[in-house]
Amino acid sequence: MTDELKNICAHAGATPDPSTGAVTIPIYLSSTFHYSPTGESPTGNVYSRETNPTRTSLENVLTQLERGEDAAAFGSGSAAANAVFLSLRPGDHVVINFDAYAGIRTMLRDIFMPWGLQVTFADLSDIANLSKALQPNTKLVWTESPTNPQLRIIDLNAVIAFCKKQNITVAVDNTFATPALQNPIAMGADLVMHSTTKYLGGHSDLTGGALITAKKNEQWERIRHIQHIQGAVPSPFDCWLLLRGIRSFVPRMTHHLSNAKAIAEFLSHHPKVDRVLYPGLATHPGHEIAKKQMSDFGAIVSFLVKGSKTDAIQIAQRVKVFTNATSLGGTESLLEHRKTVEGPDSPTPDTLIRLSVGLEDSQSLIADLKQALG
Ligand SMILES: Cc1ncc(COP(=O)(O)O)c(C=O)c1O
Repeated sequence: MTDELKNICAHAGATPDPSTGAVTIPIYLSSTFHYSPTGESPTGNVYSRETNPTRTSLENVLTQLERGEDAAAFGSGSAAANAVFLSLRPGDHVVINFDAYAGIRTMLRDIFMPWGLQVTFADLSDIANLSKALQPNTKLVWTESPTNPQLRIIDLNAVIAFCKKQNITVAVDNTFATPALQNPIAMGADLVMHSTTKYLGGHSDLTGGALITAKKNEQWERIRHIQHIQGAVPSPFDCWLLLRGIRSFVPRMTHHLSNAKAIAEFLSHHPKVDRVLYPGLATHPGHEIAKKQMSDFGAIVSFLVKGSKTDAIQIAQRVKVFTNATSLGGTESLLEHRKTVEGPDSPTPDTLIRLSVGLEDSQSLIADLKQALG
């Protein structure tokens, strides 16, 4: 984690307010702003669906965190993804990881494929599959690394280099890695997406999403237009909560990472665990690539238990310090049997348990898993 990142987060875009001296950004609840009858707005704000000062502060901080040229905040990560797909045209072709976040795969299957988008779900952890999936009308490669919940690592540099040659937009869902560990725009990606509901918010108390662009190009103008016209924007209060979460992002991540490592290590030696899916382990197939493109390995740990789906569910039922709940990236540790929420069509193995490792004492978390595994 760079010094620059620490400094951006600690202030979260705030400079003392000239009129009050306040050192945090106010929550501007006003839905409308004074402007002249001839259309000039002295502040640039007219109506909160289009711009709101609290949201603008957030978008500025997100731009800095992901080293882009601009950012757009949305009411959820899914709304952010929706804006990217909607910026394409019916008949365009998209390639996406077959094991990307289930909600985004469902969005493509249930909404965008009937709308006319052509979609190929491919295992992008093998770069050869990208050239096989390519079509003359491929306009976007949507990727996620590490993937949710199987924690496959995609070689982002290879994907980006390939797409640059073909003039294809690359969007990276950076929710799991976070800007603390991986900066896809610095590697050459065009767009970065976040579910800010997760680590950036950090307290399981908001839903939010963000897109950050490398360049304010024509596609970005379309995305901004979709944001303004469709209005899937976060409330000023959610923007403020997110700015508040970003202030403590670096120390939170530091603690998440050390707890996750201890847990992955513990699980990797447990006789009831078949396999630990954590890119920080030298045995993980994506470990070497992860080492190159990430400064650390994240705080989501998935593992496959020995036995059946029922065995995995029983283990999930026995935890006491972990909470059985979906989502991730909050201060509290969460555990989930993903196949149950993703449904029978999901590529997630039946015996997979996903952990979002929180900020509790690591030994308490390990003791909890030990008693749950039996
Ligand atoms: C990797 C990833 N991307 C996107 C999303 C969607 O974000 P949201 O739930 O904020 O719509 C999630 C949600 O779990 C996620 O884990």
